[in-house]
Amino acid sequence: MINFKESIAEKLSKIVEGLDKDEILSMLEVPADSKLGDYTFPCFRLAKVMRKSPAIIAKDIAEKLDDNSIFEKIENVNAYVNMFLNRKAFMSEVIKEVADKKDRYGSSDVGQNRTVIVEYSSPNIAKPFHIGHIRSTVIGHSIYKIYDFLGYKTVRINHLGDYGTQFGKMIVAYKRWGKEEDVKKAPIQTLLEYYVKFHEEAEKDPSLEDEARETFTRLENGEEEEVRLWQWFRDESLKEFNRVYEMLGIEFDSYAGESFYSDKMKPVIDKMREKNLLIESEGAHIVDLSEYNLSPAVIMKKDGSTLYITRDIAAAIYRKDHYDFYKNIYVVASQQNLHFQQWIQILELMGYEWARDCVHVPFGLVSLEDGTMSTRHGRVVFLEDVLNKAVEQTKNIILEINVNTDNLDVTAKQVGIGAVIFNELSNNRIKDYVFSWDKVLNFDGETGPYVQYTHARAASVLRNAGDDFDYALENMEELDMNYISSDSAHELAKMIYAFPDVVLEAAEKYEPSIVTRHIVDIAQGFNRFYHNEHILVDDVAEKRAKLLLVYATKQTIKNGLHLLGMEAPERM
Ligand code: ARG
Repeated sequence: MINFKESIAEKLSKIVEGLDKDEILSMLEVPADSKLGDYTFPCFRLAKVMRKSPAIIAKDIAEKLDDNSIFEKIENVNAYVNMFLNRKAFMSEVIKEVADKKDRYGSSDVGQNRTVIVEYSSPNIAKPFHIGHIRSTVIGHSIYKIYDFLGYKTVRINHLGDYGTQFGKMIVAYKRWGKEEDVKKAPIQTLLEYYVKFHEEAEKDPSLEDEARETFTRLENGEEEEVRLWQWFRDESLKEFNRVYEMLGIEFDSYAGESFYSDKMKPVIDKMREKNLLIESEGAHIVDLSEYNLSPAVIMKKDGSTLYITRDIAAAIYRKDHYDFYKNIYVVASQQNLHFQQWIQILELMGYEWARDCVHVPFGLVSLEDGTMSTRHGRVVFLEDVLNKAVEQTKNIILEINVNTDNLDVTAKQVGIGAVIFNELSNNRIKDYVFSWDKVLNFDGETGPYVQYTHARAASVLRNAGDDFDYALENMEELDMNYISSDSAHELAKMIYAFPDVVLEAAEKYEPSIVTRHIVDIAQGFNRFYHNEHILVDDVAEKRAKLLLVYATKQTIKNGLHLLGMEAPERM
């Protein structure tokens, strides 16, 4: 596709003295008000070199830049050169590109097949998969989709929290109060009850904590009984997690979690020793990070057991050896900022020149309207329940507002689960937010249902157009783009045109909400176009041209939804 900004910079560089194309490129702006053109070039900076007033310079440039194939008109207002694109040429370029790339519109090969690891979800086994986990799961999945779309070779890792002293607690609790049948009936719910009970009892009898520590050590040493119970908890937990992943349409390439690294610690500790990083403090081995304004990191406890951070260091090294990543992305809550700062600093001190290719992508907290959650006290909202509720409620809404669907269950699932995903990806990830059902399922707000509904509306227009749409697609060259050169059509085309850049920006900033917001804009732009202009008019030439824009819009929304991990229903 023609890069219009680049061609403008190219043309300007031939007229403007003393600035090269790249400098001009960085000065070109897109005016907030489109009455001031599609692009504008401010001339203030030129005044010094050219020893003329910016307004005179702008006037000069505007005259020299006079009309040609890409401009409809050039206007000079004060110190600005306002450029209006040739709407017909622009429109046909955009539509041709979408029709050519289809499901790949917006993709690119910037990734050059380099390997990017995206680690996300990573829940703790034997603990509820609760609403708080939605964030890493959904944000990470979208980041994976975006990188994949940009031509990177992606590896999706679920770094399960399947190791650590909490399993000592769980095993102690099970042995004391547990019943096999109960666990089999409702594994996580039951294990959670045991875990809660452990903490209650341990408050009365602190020796339980010691027992839990010893039990964990036995697990680390591979004692049969402990390993058997741990494996059983893990299997049952994964079954539950996988139900949720299936609902969300999420898969992983690897479930290598913390336990996977339990036997890979020794060389890591040895290397730290060799680099003189470890110091002893009250029997434990720590790395002093005061020089970097970070608190010390405990690497090995007095009893020789390793910690969360030790396993993360081992994991990064393993991933580099195993995948030779270009980037290693961790989508983990901002509560763990300190952990990741320490971790990356230690990797650097260990001399790994790839340390800074590891990226922590943090996000804020989700809370519920009636207060936050705490696993310890057992007040928890299961993610699976939230997703089921979303589907149920969507079903009711669909029946109420008489949505057009040929399969109620499928549509309710696509829309209900999509609504939760979309809501999750609507705000800057770093912001805390409050989960509210009214917001999630609102069909008119800036929501998933609204965007999906707009997509389905475009699909329905194309269906109703029948042969005329097929004709339009096949004979694009001969259609008259004049019919789609109104303001609302042009604005819509501009947003479609911007989509590939939006995808790039989302990848660079690890921020799927950039895609989310853009497809909301496109949906709103489409609805303006749809309401301002009749599409299925009698005049065939006019109808066919308009159908092309409907098509390009539909395709772009669909691609955007897919990058968020959502379905794009044809009927709603
Ligand atoms: N299991 C951890 C938790 O639930 C998240 C793991 C994040 N990933 C990592 N490599 N540390 O808090």
